[in-house]
Amino acid sequence: MARLSLTLLAVSLLILSTAMDSDGQGGAVQAQIVPAVVSFGDSTIDVGNNNYLPGAVFKADYVPYGVNFGKHHKPTGRFSDGKIVTDITAETLGFESYAPPYLSPEATGENLLIGANFASAASSYYDDTAAMYDAITLTQQLKYYKEYQSKLAALVGRKNASAILSDALYIISTGTGDFLQNYYHNASLSRRYDVDSYCNLLVGIFSGFANVSTYATIPSTKIDICSATPALYRLGARRIGVTSMPPLGCLPASIRLYGKGHNGCVARLNGDAETFNKKLNVTVEALAKKHSDLKIAIFDIYTPLRDLSESPASGGFTEARKTCCKTGTRKTRVYLCNPAMAGLCRNASEFVYFDGVHPSEAANLVIAESTLSAGISLVT
Ligand SMILES: *[C@@H]1O[C@H](CO)[C@@H](O)[C@H](O)[C@H]1NC(C)=O
Ligand SMILES: *[C@@H]1O[C@H](CO)[C@@H](O)[C@H](O)[C@H]1NC(C)=O
Ligand SMILES: *[C@@H]1O[C@H](CO)[C@@H](O)[C@H](O)[C@H]1NC(C)=O
Ligand SMILES: *[C@@H]1O[C@H](CO)[C@@H](O)[C@H](O)[C@H]1NC(C)=O
Ligand SMILES: *[C@@H]1O[C@H](CO)[C@@H](O)[C@H](O)[C@H]1NC(C)=O
Repeated sequence: MARLSLTLLAVSLLILSTAMDSDGQGGAVQAQIVPAVVSFGDSTIDVGNNNYLPGAVFKADYVPYGVNFGKHHKPTGRFSDGKIVTDITAETLGFESYAPPYLSPEATGENLLIGANFASAASSYYDDTAAMYDAITLTQQLKYYKEYQSKLAALVGRKNASAILSDALYIISTGTGDFLQNYYHNASLSRRYDVDSYCNLLVGIFSGFANVSTYATIPSTKIDICSATPALYRLGARRIGVTSMPPLGCLPASIRLYGKGHNGCVARLNGDAETFNKKLNVTVEALAKKHSDLKIAIFDIYTPLRDLSESPASGGFTEARKTCCKTGTRKTRVYLCNPAMAGLCRNASEFVYFDGVHPSEAANLVIAESTLSAGISLVT
């Protein structure tokens, strides 16, 4: 069902893009509906940057990650057995290959024409969270993006580059780590901010990242450097999609750590995600109002993932509590697959979660389908 309608949409988008090509521009027929996809964020969207960071705590460069990925069934750095949501989105938009992780040797020459991926597992809105795990901070991701702009200009000229960059789809997917890897076990942070003001802080960072820098208003000494960072809109982005906070309380790792022995989703944590999501909604609406030439939308991953977690059978899954791989390493605890422990589940498509925090490819397909209409609003 999910697969079928995604295919139908891909076909109709392709027809649309072919029609657009033939009325005017001429030249080579471009199969994609947007020229490029540019991604920022955390492990939900990292396609391998952390492989190139010697100190990074969170990596997915080992089996069983990638066991169902592409033709080669090899780990790439994606945190799933197969495709992540943005892979599916890119395919739906007509791309035949994926934008490379910016730190990889493939991020060069013509490969950069279809975009770049700057995401880094364990990164988050709050730069402090990323720094604790030696991940690439959001501030640094934006600096890499500026560097990418220059590389693109060197490749195809300034004018062509800016056409690509303003038509490109920008996806931001991050924030989980600010709670799971920081706030929930950081007494100094939770003393300083209640959940509501912590969410204000995070959404403020998003707003500054997408709009113009409002970082200076954030009460943290470390964040001041960000006020010098020109933000996405000012850098030319005109189609921005941001994911909502996932159902934090339904992630298997959260249930293990905060479920007090119960097996249901942790209501308090889902409430925190909802608090964040409401504020994100207000901010995105404000940004859309402020900039008439900006298309901006929220990819709501909260609702489909909560629904699958609460009633897996509704999406054709059998398991939403156990993880497909065995978790529990010393450094990444219940979050990631343990490479030393054999016993991968027989069929990852029956599991909503591949590891303690990341959905399986099959669940990613359901999520991608559910975020399609938001995606369409950005590319049409
Ligand atoms: C608590 O959070 C602050 C701010 O994010 C960070 O600088 C500090 O390292 C964290 N402490 C611990 C113990 O995680
Ligand atoms: C810019 O794009 C046009 C049209 O596709 C192309 O003819 C031209 O060679 C490009 N410029 C550079 C510097 O690549
Ligand atoms: C975007 O930036 C402008 C300043 O240029 C500011 O007035 C506005 O409040 C910001 N919008 C949001 C939603 O942060
Ligand atoms: C914000 O929430 C309202 C009410 O649920 C919804 O109609 C609207 O589409 C949301 N806005 C965005 C940008 O997602
Ligand atoms: C794996 O599970 C999915 C979903 O239940 C099912 O459609 C598929 O046939 C299964 N594959 C195998 C090899 O059992």
